[in-house]
Amino acid sequence: MSDRETLNIESMDDILTRNEIAINKIRDRLATDPNNEGRQLRVCTQTYGCQMNEHDSEKLTAMLAEMGYIPTAQYDDADLIIFNTCCVRENAELRVFGNLGHIKKIKEKKPDLILAVCGCMMQQPHIVDAIKRQYRHVDLVFGTHNLHNFPELLLSFMDTHKQVVEIWQSEGDIIEGLPADRKFDVKAFVNIMYGCNNFCAYCIVPYTRGRERSRKPEDVLAEIKMLADNGVKEIMLLGQNVNSYGKTFETPYDFADLLRDVNAISGIERIRFMTSHPKDISDKLLETIASCEHVCESLHLPVQAGSNRVLTAMNRHYTREQYLEIIRKARVLMPNIGVTTDIIVGFPGETYEEFLETLDLVKTVGYDSAFTFIYSKRTGTPAADIEDLTTDEEKHRRFDMLLNTVQDIVKEKMKTYANQTVTVLVENFSKHSEALLMGRTPQGITVTFEGDASHIGKLVDIKITKPKHFSLYGEIVAEH
Ligand code: SAH
Ligand code: SF4
Ligand code: F3S
Repeated sequence: MSDRETLNIESMDDILTRNEIAINKIRDRLATDPNNEGRQLRVCTQTYGCQMNEHDSEKLTAMLAEMGYIPTAQYDDADLIIFNTCCVRENAELRVFGNLGHIKKIKEKKPDLILAVCGCMMQQPHIVDAIKRQYRHVDLVFGTHNLHNFPELLLSFMDTHKQVVEIWQSEGDIIEGLPADRKFDVKAFVNIMYGCNNFCAYCIVPYTRGRERSRKPEDVLAEIKMLADNGVKEIMLLGQNVNSYGKTFETPYDFADLLRDVNAISGIERIRFMTSHPKDISDKLLETIASCEHVCESLHLPVQAGSNRVLTAMNRHYTREQYLEIIRKARVLMPNIGVTTDIIVGFPGETYEEFLETLDLVKTVGYDSAFTFIYSKRTGTPAADIEDLTTDEEKHRRFDMLLNTVQDIVKEKMKTYANQTVTVLVENFSKHSEALLMGRTPQGITVTFEGDASHIGKLVDIKITKPKHFSLYGEIVAEH
């Protein structure tokens, strides 16, 4: 595995130029290859994990579009298949290995099919070793730190037809200026920082995404202005812990400052962000969310556990009481704020009583929604070495109790929306029916309603006629 440290002495322009040369070479080669007979080549990209990975896949899709590839959702249709992987929990990894086995059979019938694997899983040496040994039909392996090199790596495979593996163990400078193919016209992801320094005891992300580094405000703001000029209305600012944005800057400038400046960009109607770590939430940030017209009153604030002993063992750096105090302050400033969270059940050593403290906290906060997970042991993290005597059966029992509690709370909350009017940014047609549109409230709740394509990208007021379990249904009563 090469651990290239050359990035820091290479200028950004050089990287972008080399990329462009590789893209042009691939485009020419594909266009003149008689096997392709003027056919458009297709790429099927399967993305696992969080929005970071989704956004990385958008960047890959943009590079591929320049090479002449168009997207397809079908493996059978594809000339190139890319798995952008996640390793935050074991089941995500198992699914990738299962799919690699499936593609092997497709490749036997279609030997020209190229298979590439990238993303967080590839930052783990034992996984890359397994691919090199047991999955020889994988043609291209790269990681999160050298995604921008994809065109060169693909070209290298096309030249040699030998498995190409290049992983950087450390992050280089932030690469600016890469294209990104936006999946949505109405909303777009924008990275504001990469990596994570928090080393929560259970979590693999700091090992796969490297140290925390913030993009310069001028780069972030320029990207958002460009998006606004292209008709984007909603921005999702992305980082593993957006609240520590700017900590390394020489001139003080924090996440609240960034929110205020994004709020001033004309054309951007809605600003969302994720994820916020409770330990770094400041009063200034809460006040900024409350005072900025376009910043949605919505906070995804992962709590992970309700017991102080477990929170300490998880290395989270806040107590249950401090967490509840943040929620209290947020609700004083913004009574309608939507609060969502992530929770882990069955952290090693969690007792039943400690689990009940989580259940109690969930009821006390009354979340608008919660992502709940059973603890998954990740090799290399500190929690992997903690003795874990709780049986899988007991963990599942606790998980079901938590899920039922969350669902009951959310159902009750949804009922309170009956006959209320909410403002929604219309995103697209509903996934379930072309006759319906969908959008979200500032709190992030999905609303479906009748309308036509002319509404997409606009803010509309919807009267809720039918609250469902996790979403709302209503009718347009006003357009902004
Ligand atoms: N940076 C974000 C979350 C990143 S991972 C944050 O700190 O909030 C998303 C969620 O996956 C985490 O919030 C956590 O709840 C869950 N998670 C992470 N590692 C896990 C593990 N080993 N087992 C189960 N869930 C895990
Ligand atoms: Fe993982 Fe914790 Fe970093 Fe979130 S803050 S990515 S849970 S280490
Ligand atoms: Fe998964 Fe990597 Fe995101 S491990 S959750 S894809 S940062």
